[in-house]
Amino acid sequence: MRLLLLLAVVLLVAILVNFSSFVNGDTDPSDASVLRVLYTTLNSPGQLTKWSANGGDPCGESWTGITCSGNNVTEIKLSGLGLSGSLGSQLDSLKSVTNFDISNNNMGSQIPYQLPPNVQRLNLASSGFSGGLPYSISQMTSLQYLNVSHNQIQGSVIVSFDLLSALNTLDFSFNSMAGNLPQSFRSLTSMNKMYLQNNQFSGTIDVLANLPLGNLNVENNQFTGWIPDQLKGIVQSNGNSWISGPAPPPPPGTPPANNPNRDHKSRENSSNPGSKKSGIGGGGVAGIVISILVVGAIVAFFIIKKRSRRSSSDIEKLDKQPLAPLTSQKVEELKPYQISSTVSVGTFETPTAVTLRPPPIDRLKSFDEVDISPKPIVPPKKINTAQISATQFSIADLQIATDSFNVENLIGEGSIGRVYCAQFDDGKVLAVKKINSSALQNHEDFLNIVSEISQLHHPNIIELVGYCSEHGQYLLVHEFHKNGSLHDFLHLSDEDSKPLAWNSRVKIALGAARALEYLHEVHSPSMVHKNIKSANILLDLELNPHLSDSGLASLINDADQALNHNTGSGYGAPEVAMYGQCTIKSDVYSFGVVMLELLTGRTPFDSERPRSEQSLVRWATPQLHDIDALAKMVDPALKGLYPVKSISRFADVIALCVQSEPEFRPPMSEVVEALVRLVQRANMSKRTYSIDRSSRGETDSQDNQP
Ligand SMILES: *[C@@H]1O[C@H](CO)[C@@H](O)[C@H](O)[C@H]1NC(C)=O
Ligand SMILES: *[C@@H]1O[C@H](CO)[C@@H](O)[C@H](O)[C@H]1NC(C)=O
Ligand SMILES: *[C@@H]1O[C@H](CO)[C@@H](O)[C@H](O)[C@H]1NC(C)=O
Repeated sequence: MRLLLLLAVVLLVAILVNFSSFVNGDTDPSDASVLRVLYTTLNSPGQLTKWSANGGDPCGESWTGITCSGNNVTEIKLSGLGLSGSLGSQLDSLKSVTNFDISNNNMGSQIPYQLPPNVQRLNLASSGFSGGLPYSISQMTSLQYLNVSHNQIQGSVIVSFDLLSALNTLDFSFNSMAGNLPQSFRSLTSMNKMYLQNNQFSGTIDVLANLPLGNLNVENNQFTGWIPDQLKGIVQSNGNSWISGPAPPPPPGTPPANNPNRDHKSRENSSNPGSKKSGIGGGGVAGIVISILVVGAIVAFFIIKKRSRRSSSDIEKLDKQPLAPLTSQKVEELKPYQISSTVSVGTFETPTAVTLRPPPIDRLKSFDEVDISPKPIVPPKKINTAQISATQFSIADLQIATDSFNVENLIGEGSIGRVYCAQFDDGKVLAVKKINSSALQNHEDFLNIVSEISQLHHPNIIELVGYCSEHGQYLLVHEFHKNGSLHDFLHLSDEDSKPLAWNSRVKIALGAARALEYLHEVHSPSMVHKNIKSANILLDLELNPHLSDSGLASLINDADQALNHNTGSGYGAPEVAMYGQCTIKSDVYSFGVVMLELLTGRTPFDSERPRSEQSLVRWATPQLHDIDALAKMVDPALKGLYPVKSISRFADVIALCVQSEPEFRPPMSEVVEALVRLVQRANMSKRTYSIDRSSRGETDSQDNQP
């Protein structure tokens, strides 16, 4: 009798406990799914006890380092666990996480663009991260504590701090960050502790003058100028090149220093006073259940077993629905390929020029009035200039050849700079690209780039002839191609000029594909172009394509790329907008867009068309496999003069290139092969072709082999 009663009680307790754990422990399915993916991208380490890649309940089972509030994951603290791998690309779905700490590990990867968007504390210190700081940090308006110290973070800071007014502690120390301090540091009105020591920052620290700092360390950088009076006493400043003596009065016209409240209130306050789990923790539940079972009720044992099996399979079912976990291979694919130089130079901030002369100069500097004041210290050359095979030009030479950079000689303008046509005394005509000062600030970086470009040799890549680096001006001198760019040829020709015949279009696609294949697969290390577009494909008199801007990827701001994509340049792959980083696969995508331009004669983005047709890729892609639709899509300028077979094979290649999943896009060598086959078939059935009247070189002997 007693035994029976005991059994009944045990049964009841077991069911109640089991039920309550099911209710309280069920983690938000999206949060749970992200953590499972994270487990995979971290290479499923054993240190993360209870974690699992395919199931489980992070909150209910008390996964290592995870804290929850209700069903939401609020803290991820994985410091010092010897973790490696990457953080994956889904952390931005963790909307409730306020504390993310992965410090003191061995990640050896880049900091991903996707991070929990509402974090208050972000600690990525001492974890072997390389690359740059992701621009997404600019949007973390709740951020109070940011620590990325003791990593290998490089390049100038592209993050904007305008929205980060809650940030009170920032630690950038012991990295390889360079360039001027961002002007948006001015917005850090809560900043208390700032550690910038042991980097390669340059320029002045004036932007910090009015912050309510209690602690500032800028030791061992390349700062110049004067230490602002406001910072004397709190700043540790050894190991820089300060100018001694009193600072000059601020130039007239400087806005009065807006002195923010210095008695800032402590924000540490809100650092989330332990969001405790409600109910009994998963571990406790297991303990109780087990001990009860051990006491002895066989019936209860069976029932509980049955129940728990069912509930865990329910969870599994639930979790299968959202976001299939990324395989680690896919994540691998999304990482940017080796970019020759990782210096990403911010264009968000106008650099504060260090002018040693007091009067402020407000006019635009032109070459007529080159500033000859001492320039902000040219760092010692570490580049082997012997490697640079290009000629060094003087500014004076280029000025004469371009008629002082007269607008009449302006032949192009891109995000990196303006291009001028230059006519030299010996009759030579060359193109001169004047690089925007916002894109490049450093003599050494420039020589590195010149050295790299001068080693690119391919018939379809613009040859570098020379360069000039004087007075803080950086110029590249290239061969000049009279026929202009493919963009102009396709989109800007007037009514009576001859349209590009179909076989010329195929030839241009093939040549450009070969150029890209060379950069991606022949050149070592593999080089991402980052800026494939018809305006960067120049045509010579025989309409052979020559790719320009190769080797200038480091001058293109990733954040700008994302921005560009969102505002619709039409060339950017989807992942460029999402991840802000370019890979050889995003080049392949952009190349597919250029092929679409060749096929349709349309620009990649055309705001004058009906909404459904504005984005060329979105409009054209669904129709690429439909012969009838294809015939309607083809550039009307071709007037039907093309072989249908060739068009449809061309369209097949495009469809491969513009796939939204980067890993499905073919390598450029496969694109080249496909286009070579196309040209060979075309040559065999030449009769079907129109005569290409706009081109003198009719056949491309290179592609003519059987
Ligand atoms: C969990 O997150 C959801 C959505 O973000 C929110 O609506 C809810 O209030 C959160 N719950 C708790 C207990 O914080
Ligand atoms: C940042 O992290 C490093 C490494 O863990 C630590 O030594 C340093 O004190 C932290 N900085 C701040 C401001 O907390
Ligand atoms: C500090 O915490 C108290 C109570 O928890 C809250 O009222 C106050 O607003 C907090 N202060 C700050 C600066 O967050």
